[in-house]
Amino acid sequence: MNRTLNGGIALVTGAGGGIGGAIATALAGEGMRVWLCGRRRESLEVLAARIQPDRLAGLLAADVTRPADRERIAEVVGARLDVLVHAAGQFQPGSPAEIPAAEMVSLFEVNTIAPLDLTRQLLPALRAARGQVVVLNSTAALRATGPWSVYAATKAALRTLTEGLRDAVNREGIRVLSVLPGRTASPMQARVHEWEGRPYRPERLMQPADVAAMVIAALKLPDTAELTELVVRPRQPG
Ligand SMILES: NC(=O)c1ccc[n+]([C@@H]2O[C@H](COP(=O)([O-])OP(=O)(O)OC[C@H]3O[C@@H](n4cnc5c(N)ncnc54)[C@H](OP(=O)(O)O)[C@@H]3O)[C@@H](O)[C@H]2O)c1
Repeated sequence: MNRTLNGGIALVTGAGGGIGGAIATALAGEGMRVWLCGRRRESLEVLAARIQPDRLAGLLAADVTRPADRERIAEVVGARLDVLVHAAGQFQPGSPAEIPAAEMVSLFEVNTIAPLDLTRQLLPALRAARGQVVVLNSTAALRATGPWSVYAATKAALRTLTEGLRDAVNREGIRVLSVLPGRTASPMQARVHEWEGRPYRPERLMQPADVAAMVIAALKLPDTAELTELVVRPRQPG
């Protein structure tokens, strides 16, 4: 029997962004009460205005790279969490030949360390719900080349650590899914196109709602199954 999400509690980081916003909206559409987390309260408010009020658990303006903010998130969420989605992330172009150590550390902090440490702090609430964790990774994790290599390394490390997390918490009934999307229309992808000097045509890319639909399908799988990794890309034209 499929799992139902209706009535559960979810937390989405990066909810003010393209993919996080679409997943938060889809979770609310399934009847969950959703915490929206991101640094800029304004972008969370824009999303909140589109979500039915009784499906909104609250807004959490927080920087997930700050340990104090991660502690506050865990405190505010409290005793039970059914679904935790990590969609906060950043892209920075550049190879190790160009990016100074401090900037590399910052990128690892937001893309790699923050989602894992926030999950660790929310484990009691996830255990209570036999919950599910969704980690937005990237197809960049599968190949590291030239100016993509530092970003790709943060995602490759995230992929390995997410597998370690799954190994550790699976027997407690917690499912962990890595999602590796290719190019998806979002503010981040618009910035990538600008850096590449290419015209940005979002309609040609995968849509955040496409990613959200696949995540929802994975979350609703029966308890006897678990999707561990989802690799999705825009359909090639032709
Ligand atoms: N779009 C793509 O083509 C694509 C492809 C593969 C993987 N991904 C991955 O998918 C995830 C979502 O990407 P997206 O395309 O939706 O990007 P996006 O539109 O830029 O959204 C990312 C969100 O993360 C939030 N964020 C960034 N740093 C944060 C921090 N320190 N604390 C809390 N929130 C933070 C940002 O909001 P604030 O600035 O308000 O904090 C932003 O709304 C990322 O992990 C990205 O690497 C995206």
